[in-house]
Amino acid sequence: MKASVTAHRDYVISAIDGRLYGAFLEHLGRAIYTGIYEPGHKTARPDGLRGDVIELVKDLKVPVVRYPGGNFVSAYNWEDGVGPRETRPTRLDLAWHTSESNAVGVHEFADWCAAVDAEMMLAINLGSRGLDEARNFVEYVNGPTGSYWGDLRKKNGRAEPFAVKHWCLGNEMDGPWQVGHKTAHEYGRLANEVAKTLRAFDKSLELVVCGSSNSDMKTYPEWERVVLEHAYDAVDHISLHMYFANRGKNAANYLALNHKLDAYIGAVAATIEAVRALKRSKKRVTISFDEWNVWYHSNSEDRAVLDGHKGWPHAPRLLEDVYNFEDVLQVGCILNTFIRRSDVVKIACIAQLVNVIAPIMTEPGGPAWRQTIYYPYYLASNFGRGVALQLAVHSPTYEAEAADNAPYLDIAGVHDEKDETITLFAVNRHGGEALELTANLIGFGALKVVDHQVMAYGDLEAVNDIHNPNAVTPKPGKGARVNAGHSLLAHLPPYSYQMIRLGPARD
Ligand code: AHR
Repeated sequence: MKASVTAHRDYVISAIDGRLYGAFLEHLGRAIYTGIYEPGHKTARPDGLRGDVIELVKDLKVPVVRYPGGNFVSAYNWEDGVGPRETRPTRLDLAWHTSESNAVGVHEFADWCAAVDAEMMLAINLGSRGLDEARNFVEYVNGPTGSYWGDLRKKNGRAEPFAVKHWCLGNEMDGPWQVGHKTAHEYGRLANEVAKTLRAFDKSLELVVCGSSNSDMKTYPEWERVVLEHAYDAVDHISLHMYFANRGKNAANYLALNHKLDAYIGAVAATIEAVRALKRSKKRVTISFDEWNVWYHSNSEDRAVLDGHKGWPHAPRLLEDVYNFEDVLQVGCILNTFIRRSDVVKIACIAQLVNVIAPIMTEPGGPAWRQTIYYPYYLASNFGRGVALQLAVHSPTYEAEAADNAPYLDIAGVHDEKDETITLFAVNRHGGEALELTANLIGFGALKVVDHQVMAYGDLEAVNDIHNPNAVTPKPGKGARVNAGHSLLAHLPPYSYQMIRLGPARD
């Protein structure tokens, strides 16, 4: 099969916000305990943070990490996680039917973020709690000393404010499963009042209001309209979440699911525009897609803990999806969608980062390793920076549940003026046939291929695990070449993900 793409230097979708490659860490399962924090582990620093995990995260160049939940946050008391460890209470975590020791709280998370060079994005409990706790939390984290909360932070070891810019106003408040679930009107009013109050403290905060938990929610997209009508002027971003699953064991349908993602983003972008017009507002609220990933492999194993058959365990194995090669293709398509919608999606967080539906896995007392999906995330985060190019794509298509004409070729292109590079991220969604790709790259000067990484495996079920952590990794691609300085020719094997980078052909 043949496919072609045309890119022109001046045809740009948007500058890509670096925060598109953010991540999420929740007090859930082993994300925190034996994930990022394991005192006594042979790589642990004196503060108990696992050094091996820090190194794997640093390679990902994660700009921002959302914390501490998730469903967990909706019954969380942030005060439990500050002050001397021996006085911190153990609480029941009602979201995941586990126990929370509170050995890690906002101070330890800040230390970890400093170690991996990421910004914090903190979520506020608007489920079981409300405005007062929200303002106290923000003042504790960001307030000056000489006031009650700033002085308490100083007493707890940190005089300088943490200067956290990003704040999420609750989590998935549309979800009936959420502790403190609300109607759109109830939540919209509360979110607006909380946002106004936080702005009275600091106008420069970036506030994220909850949108829908997914586009199958009965209240979607009316939820977005109502919430934004209440809170448009007071917030900066609206949060969306979506998880992907191949329950029907149908790869063609599964790999077209990013069309559903694209429609979801498009509908919310349109709702933002409609409310903006209604408000006669100059401001443009944007999307924070702060939970996305594949999530289904571990569902049945998790039932025993979630249904309470194991009591209230601390840091049990939960949501430990083992990702396969098929999920590499899915994650590649999702990231391509975010690049193509970088005009409106300014923050996105892979959910999650360590052990819990995560690109990084650890064994307590043992090694840490990269799951298959680590790689498309790594390549996009490291090389998908710059401006997103508006590509004209011609590709054979197929019928899928989520799309009538899903192109076999899913592709996104990025131009980094600083590095003088063009990077293409391409997925061939056909399982039996290769795609012969021609990419006409206009206005960039004479180019040559400077890097080509390919992931192609006969076995969609191939995984990385503790016994074989490097079974699925990118390999250098062969044969991609540029004709006449601007026409790239590349062979995309069946079911493959690849990154092709081009730079100036100077010598
Ligand atoms: O990431 C796992 C869970 O998915 C989060 O706690 C919740 O926000 C979502 O439903």
